[in-house]
Amino acid sequence: MSKHPIVLFDSGVGGTSILKEVIHLLPHENIVYLADSKNAPYGLRTRQDIINLSIKNTELAIQMEAKMIIVACNTASTNAISFLRSHYTLPFIGIEPAIKPAALNSKAKRIGVLATKGTLSSELFKQTSESFTKGINVIEVIGEGIVEAVEGGWTDDKTFVDNLNQQIQPFIKEDIDYLVLGCTHFPYIIPLLKELLPKHVTIIDSGRAVARQTKAVLEEQHLKNTEDSFGHINIYTNTVNSSHLRELMKDFKNVNITQKDF
Ligand code: DGL
Repeated sequence: MSKHPIVLFDSGVGGTSILKEVIHLLPHENIVYLADSKNAPYGLRTRQDIINLSIKNTELAIQMEAKMIIVACNTASTNAISFLRSHYTLPFIGIEPAIKPAALNSKAKRIGVLATKGTLSSELFKQTSESFTKGINVIEVIGEGIVEAVEGGWTDDKTFVDNLNQQIQPFIKEDIDYLVLGCTHFPYIIPLLKELLPKHVTIIDSGRAVARQTKAVLEEQHLKNTEDSFGHINIYTNTVNSSHLRELMKDFKNVNITQKDF
């Protein structure tokens, strides 16, 4: 069982921001990544649609003998993880916007959250936000067109940059000191956000915390791969063009990218 893969899935290429952290922390694990780009963005879909897509990805992961599943998507985690946990027996690691550390560290007591509509409107997000942000002003912004730009690899396009600049104005107006990225596609625009936001704003994403949690659960459940060799990394994408995915993973060896209908 310990040699079986950890399977991650996301609505597309964004979850590779989590995949990279997992590879760094757990280099001996065999890993499969399912990029459901064909169905991106998830964030504009109904909750039921998001659950159905998460079931589809989970069924494929189980066929691939997953020992654990990382839902490398905030939208799928916040809308579908309780369903998945109650219907399947293998361990699931989910991702939620890192509101807690931002709220704890904010001196201004004003934090921003940039996420998809699906995440911001989910019950799980609302509960988390309510329980950790007493006395904190939380400015929520639905990131529009960002998932599409990261998927398409056009984040340096001028129209996109202007549009993003407009979207983040509420964060600047309210003078936040922490910005939480609530979507796994968004770490790919951190350099751009740093240019557009005032210098004192700290940007937080959940990648490292998810990798640490994955390691802890593997150890707790005695599922860690005990082999010394580097693990195999297999990425499956259901779109025809995988060149952008290859570009995002170019610094990683041992990575196979295959097109697959799912
Ligand atoms: N990476 C997904 C997330 O973390 C993007 C959601 C989408 O496809 O809209 O929320």
